[in-house]
Amino acid sequence: MAKTVSSYELTLGARPQHQTRTRWLYDELRHAILEKRLAPGTKLPASRDFGRLYGLARGTVVSVFERLQAEGYVSCRVGSGTRVNHVNAVSPARVGRSTAAAYIRRVISSYARPKPWVGIEKIAKEGVHPFSMREPAMAEFPAKLWGSLAARRARKFTSWLRTEDDGRGYRPLREAITHYLASSRGVRSSPDQIVIVSGVQQALDLLSRMLLKRDDPVWMEDPGYFGASIAFESVGARIVPVPVDTEGLSVSAGLRMCPQAKGAYVTPAHQFPLGMTMSLERRMEVLKWASSAGAFVIEDDYDSEYRFEGQPVPAMQTLDGNSNVIFIGSFSKILFPSLRLGYVVLPPQLADYFLAFRSRTDFRSVNLDQAVLCDFIVEGHLGRHLRRMRNLYASRLEALIAGGERYLKGRLKISGVRAGLYTVGFLENGMNSRQGETAAAARGVEVFALDRYTLKRPDQKGLLLGFAAFDETAIRKGLIQLAAALDQNASGAVNNGRQLTSVL
Ligand SMILES: Cc1ncc(COP(=O)(O)O)c(C=O)c1O
Repeated sequence: MAKTVSSYELTLGARPQHQTRTRWLYDELRHAILEKRLAPGTKLPASRDFGRLYGLARGTVVSVFERLQAEGYVSCRVGSGTRVNHVNAVSPARVGRSTAAAYIRRVISSYARPKPWVGIEKIAKEGVHPFSMREPAMAEFPAKLWGSLAARRARKFTSWLRTEDDGRGYRPLREAITHYLASSRGVRSSPDQIVIVSGVQQALDLLSRMLLKRDDPVWMEDPGYFGASIAFESVGARIVPVPVDTEGLSVSAGLRMCPQAKGAYVTPAHQFPLGMTMSLERRMEVLKWASSAGAFVIEDDYDSEYRFEGQPVPAMQTLDGNSNVIFIGSFSKILFPSLRLGYVVLPPQLADYFLAFRSRTDFRSVNLDQAVLCDFIVEGHLGRHLRRMRNLYASRLEALIAGGERYLKGRLKISGVRAGLYTVGFLENGMNSRQGETAAAARGVEVFALDRYTLKRPDQKGLLLGFAAFDETAIRKGLIQLAAALDQNASGAVNNGRQLTSVL
């Protein structure tokens, strides 16, 4: 709708539905002035004419003109009407390929600069498809109960909910976690050693900043948890990729590669991503090395709640007589992923330092969520939920293993590890892991290539399959699709497949 009057000519863009006429007109005129589509000195039509021109009420036009005048975009003088001022706008840079790259180089700190974030939400299909590892069995979560606990807390809106709290987190929640960890994981702690964080990832970020500096070597399991490696890389630390075997991290390899490392990150309960439990002997070797080297050990206890055979192995922290172990865990997968709450159990002398590092970003976790989680634990719902989920997941994993033997023979051998919320399968059809992942994605099956998690070692040609969110029918259908996908020849699959270009 191009409308003109004498020296004035301006095409206004369409008004977005959610915007008021006043806001829209203000934005349109302001941008036109900044971009010099309305040249300095241009006389705007009188408000009545302007309104008629664009089908707007005069009052709307008057209030926009007044605002533009107050902000210096136009001047209004009796007798000479409203005129556009000289506004020294910064002309927008022409963003071609090279200028965009130059801009990134200039504005993003070169210090441990990451690649741009490609979250799972950008690469995976919408919805949760077999064998996504992203969710637990959300349909089984006692959502109503959680909602009523949240409503009860919110209704009271006590002064504690309204104000700031100890940076360590809600004390009753820390007490509840102390009891929970003592009974389920054998962990010895006091509430003062516990800091509530927004998930394990925040803990890893803060611990990296607290414990490591540029070029400090740190042991990581290879393959291992990418969330830890990105945290270590963010402070410029040097990751030492220590291979794992059936007993977990190979301490002898670590000693050969870098005996003087500043610390180690391990997942002893359920190795990420291969799933095995670290043997007692290895745990002792790690601790012995840590105490002789003065190194820290970060024990990520993620997923440890789910063991489907044998007794749960107590945490490594329980064997540590020297306060070298920092124990971290999360509620994101045992309850629901958007609940960004986890905990760090620190050696007592480190807790205040940890809080100092945290104060540089967000001070504390959300009070309401902490209070609801506290009630959920203290009133016994967590224990009940875990018991129920353990049975459910055990049967889903059995369905996956049995179905794998039936449908995937000669294509993928699913590991016999009976723990966690996902498992690993090894390709037997000649494909490498990326080819397997791509072929599966083309058939709507979400699996992750094992080599996404390797640091240095060669591709072990495996795929990770989550089973927690799928009932037996969905598992069977997913396996049939996966079998068909893995029957394609490797090069066809790669060419036709949908590329998943990032990790979880
Ligand atoms: C080994 C391991 N640690 C930590 C996390 C993330 O925990 P959070 O969601 O609490 O950041 C994950 C998530 O997949 C994981 O696999």
